[in-house]
Amino acid sequence: QAYNERESLYIALNFAKDFFVNNLKSEEGRAIGLSYFKERGFSQAIIEKFDLGYTLEGWDHLLKAAKAAGHSEEILLKAGLILQKEGDPSRLYDRFRGRVTFTIHNLGGKPIGFGARILTQDKKQPKYINSPETEVYHKSDVLYGMFQAKKSIREKDNCYLVEGYTDVVSLHLSGIENVVASSGTSLTENQIKLIKRFTDNVTVLFDGDAAGIKASLRGIDMLLEGGLNVKAVVFPDGDDPDSYSRKVGSEVFNAYLTSHAQDFIAFKIGLHAEEASNDPVKRADLIKQVVLSLSKIPDPIIRTVYIRQSANLLEIDEEIIQVELNKIILKVQ
Ligand code: CTP
Ligand code: MN
Ligand code: MN
Ligand code: MN
Ligand code: MN
Repeated sequence: QAYNERESLYIALNFAKDFFVNNLKSEEGRAIGLSYFKERGFSQAIIEKFDLGYTLEGWDHLLKAAKAAGHSEEILLKAGLILQKEGDPSRLYDRFRGRVTFTIHNLGGKPIGFGARILTQDKKQPKYINSPETEVYHKSDVLYGMFQAKKSIREKDNCYLVEGYTDVVSLHLSGIENVVASSGTSLTENQIKLIKRFTDNVTVLFDGDAAGIKASLRGIDMLLEGGLNVKAVVFPDGDDPDSYSRKVGSEVFNAYLTSHAQDFIAFKIGLHAEEASNDPVKRADLIKQVVLSLSKIPDPIIRTVYIRQSANLLEIDEEIIQVELNKIILKVQ
């Protein structure tokens, strides 16, 4: 067997994917993992489409099975599937235990990592345990769901950007396939380039909480800098795309996305409009914020269109925006 290391990693990760998927069919997997997915409304078809799985309770189910199938400990370690005991590195154990798993695929559909969700309310343990960086999983290059989404992103010429694994799966259940997740971290330049391979249009659907809004504001500026056209949808407080779509059903959810997709300028202004309306300091701050976003738009023609729109929404002269904008642009040069 003359596999190089990368090939061995892919083969081991694919073995783990199959193992986790098959665990769902075991008695423990059905009782715990499958019933968890069913409670969230995940269908059998969607479970298969996303290679969702389950990792058994216990320390070394994967390790034993993988070794029996001929995978070396070294490769399993390098694949991020197993860990060495602290203080006793010869003792190895499974990274993911007693959790449901979301398989992370590369663009070609090969498994390169996993996100594993806890099933209890135990606040002392992290909700998700994720694969580490490996030779085949560069987190900053990957968007969860891109393999399943790329065809639809091209067809629709738009990409929905969500925070979580479950949001991606839920949107597919609502018939929306052009969706990828940033997996709770801030966007990277490579992720934006990845989207740009398929479309110039992004609609940001981040969680309707303070953290989500903060993340979307940051994300929007990065997307603008990348030359993408950006829209955003705000969800009712406390909801994310998954919870909201389950609450209202797919028909209402689809209509909500269409009717609430706001241009990034309107989104930004809307967030602060109320407090800014009767507070001149906050109003000036809002104008600066908007100008900052405008300064990120590389295309001068698109920028001009947005300057006009911002002026209308802020009820100020275009020239004021232009003057502020020039200050920033001159500073950068
Ligand atoms: N995340 C993570 N580790 C955590 C919490 C979150 O990696 N401890 C990532 C996951 O990719 C997760 C995303 O951030 O999907 C968004 O986090 P959150 O909104 O908390 O989770 P949900 O995806 O909404 O999961 P659920 O609906 O099951 O609570
Ligand atoms: Mn790379
Ligand atoms: Mn969140
Ligand atoms: Mn969420
Ligand atoms: Mn959620």
